[in-house]
Amino acid sequence: MKLTKRQITSFQQKIFSWWKTHRRDLPWRHTRDPYRIMVSEVMLQQTQVLRVVAKYREFIERYPTIKILAHASPGAVLRIWKGMGYNRRALYLQRAAKMIVEEYHGIFPLTEKDLRNLPGLGIYTARALLVFAYEQEVPLIDTNIRQIVTHFFLKDQTQGRALEKEIEDIARQLIPPGKSWQWHQALMDYGALAMTNVPASPAGRQYPMTNRKKQKPFKDSNRYYRGRIVDRLREGEISEKKFLNELGKTYTKPVAFLLSIIASLVKDGLIERSSRGVLRLPV
Ligand code: ADE
Repeated sequence: MKLTKRQITSFQQKIFSWWKTHRRDLPWRHTRDPYRIMVSEVMLQQTQVLRVVAKYREFIERYPTIKILAHASPGAVLRIWKGMGYNRRALYLQRAAKMIVEEYHGIFPLTEKDLRNLPGLGIYTARALLVFAYEQEVPLIDTNIRQIVTHFFLKDQTQGRALEKEIEDIARQLIPPGKSWQWHQALMDYGALAMTNVPASPAGRQYPMTNRKKQKPFKDSNRYYRGRIVDRLREGEISEKKFLNELGKTYTKPVAFLLSIIASLVKDGLIERSSRGVLRLPV
């Protein structure tokens, strides 16, 4: 759908005039450092803004540059990630930093294609870097922005893939030239603060989140135990034998199940088993 100039400017005005009085002051909005933007965006993927603000400050204080993160132990990064959930994100961040330092000479990738090549970076995070670090004029679509576009422009539209293309097409037309950074920050705030009473449109509800991997239901239940095991190992290492005993008592789960969870964590690099049969976060 091609929007008229009137439609575009009146919607831009609506959002920017709302933003004048509702703009949030968030720490990652004071920087254009792609490293810091990457840290904030990865944190924001599945975690509330308030929790992210505190953890972002702590993280940047401990790992102020990509080089320092690249040389950190994954276990230390997992320890600082405590309370955030989705621990794999911490590992991905550290691996991405390592890759940039080792393969890109410490120069942050500049293109969407190279950004998406980094561990853990999907289309959303790659675009977020283009917009929030490099101030490029590309449409950034997250759950909130998708909801805004469907609510104001695609109220009674169809569903599925075609809709997703249509959303991106409209989002692209709406970007005010020279103000992509402000525009997308404003939409983030509008989506978070002003759209809370708008029920997601049927189309919006039906389409799966694209900036997040779909999870099988059984994976979801495993995630709980994976999280608890990493939580325990944050407190310190423990012999596998002792740990299985402890876990068996706490969760009344068969040893085979617990062993399969431990194996999957080892495979993903979230924990490791030392030669002495001790489980610990990766050193
Ligand atoms: N969620 C993802 N990116 C964001 C940003 N820059 N500001 C607020 N919320 C966000």
